[in-house]
Amino acid sequence: MSQDSAAKNASVTIRDNTTGKEATFPILTGTEGPPVIDIRRLYAETGYFTYDPGFVATGSCESAITYIDGDNGVLLHRGYPIEQLAENSDFLEVCYLLLNGELPTPAEKTEFDYRITHHTMLHEQLSYFYRGFRRDAHPMAIMCGVVGALSAFYHDSLDISDPRQRMIASHRMIAKMPTIAGWAYKYSQGQPFIYPQNNLGFAENFLRMLFATPCEDYEINPVIAKTMDRILILHADHEQNASTSTVRLAGSSGANPFACISAGIASLWGPAHGGANEAVLNMLSQIGHTKNIPEFVEKAKDKDDPFLLMGFGHRVYKNFDPRTKIMRETCHSVLKELGIKDEPLLDLAMELERIALEDEYFIERKLYPNVDFYSGIIFQALGIPTSMFTVLFAVARTVGWIAQWNEMVEDPNQKIGRPRQLYTGAAKREYIPVSKR
Ligand code: ACO
Repeated sequence: MSQDSAAKNASVTIRDNTTGKEATFPILTGTEGPPVIDIRRLYAETGYFTYDPGFVATGSCESAITYIDGDNGVLLHRGYPIEQLAENSDFLEVCYLLLNGELPTPAEKTEFDYRITHHTMLHEQLSYFYRGFRRDAHPMAIMCGVVGALSAFYHDSLDISDPRQRMIASHRMIAKMPTIAGWAYKYSQGQPFIYPQNNLGFAENFLRMLFATPCEDYEINPVIAKTMDRILILHADHEQNASTSTVRLAGSSGANPFACISAGIASLWGPAHGGANEAVLNMLSQIGHTKNIPEFVEKAKDKDDPFLLMGFGHRVYKNFDPRTKIMRETCHSVLKELGIKDEPLLDLAMELERIALEDEYFIERKLYPNVDFYSGIIFQALGIPTSMFTVLFAVARTVGWIAQWNEMVEDPNQKIGRPRQLYTGAAKREYIPVSKR
């Protein structure tokens, strides 16, 4: 393979050693990140497919929403560093930015906040839908079902060719997700659903729907509300991760946005993705004491043992995840502000991080703590039950999913997603009737 990177129209030429045939493919460059080889005509011109399980070296789309430089620990949303957004912005402003490409003017911000706030209520019939679930259902199972069911309740925003309907569906999704999540929790507790309250901010409203009861209102602690808002910002989008790619793939067939987001929630649930925050806390409880850490680190390194250090490693970050740094700082400041002095799980997490980061196995493989490593500890300090950790992630990521879905629908190059395969099954053979087998 030769790369003519000096030429204005850079290209890569592939020569087939068996036939001597050559084919040339253009190299495309974005505003940031490595160039990509445009292989759309590869099969037509060479008869070859590419083979890349897990999309390790494959760009599946063009996107202008989020950029990650995994080697240098950089995360930008629409060009703005995550550190600046987490410090200075609020979640709804980040939602506006992800959806629209620019930060809002004061008037646009007021309008957007109003619009989201006034879409938070659920169709009342949905409250009966919840009652079909077992009380001990995992809240993520309820989320998959209820979000998918939204398409049966909001028929007026299902036409994906209409930009206005797409916008309404997007606003509905962002606005209703905390209500759906709050109700999933209430249902699992056997408590009555708490309706949203329009004079509250996004994070405050969500906390109230989780923790208030009809007999006792929830007193909103501004430290907790601010922390929740920051956590939502940190999880808002992360380019083409598994759940976002799932949303795009589901949507590529023209499926409605509610169904697509439900597919994204299902993908997020797995412990290798959003389910890791719940798994981290379970793992820390299992480790139990700092003296047991070396034993668990050895288990994680043992290839014959399926155990992994949950909250460690990332497909893209081969350096510190910038969100983890903010999450770790937030974790310390929140515990301090809430007056929580001894948090054994935090001590355990910090010691585990220290030991793992000094271990040759983790250094060699560039395995750093990811965003989920500290988020679980903060969630616990905020009083969020473990089964709701991944649900919180889903509430935050909804804006990323819907922004990416909108971008895909508007992309003139968009096609139905249809990967090919390396077939290794039986070659063609003749059917033998059962009596002769
Ligand atoms: N503990 C121990 N070893 C690990 C870990 C871990 N957490 N993660 C990766 N490794 C090892 C692998 O065994 C592999 O070793 P090898 O080269 O000797 O075979 C090497 O590091 C590379 O790992 P891959 O599995 O190839 O990395 P991949 O990019 O496919 O997976 C993933 C990334 C899924 C995040 C993985 O690191 C993992 O499962 N981590 C634990 C779960 C987790 O925290 N997930 C949250 C991800 S972030 C998010 O969704 C917000």
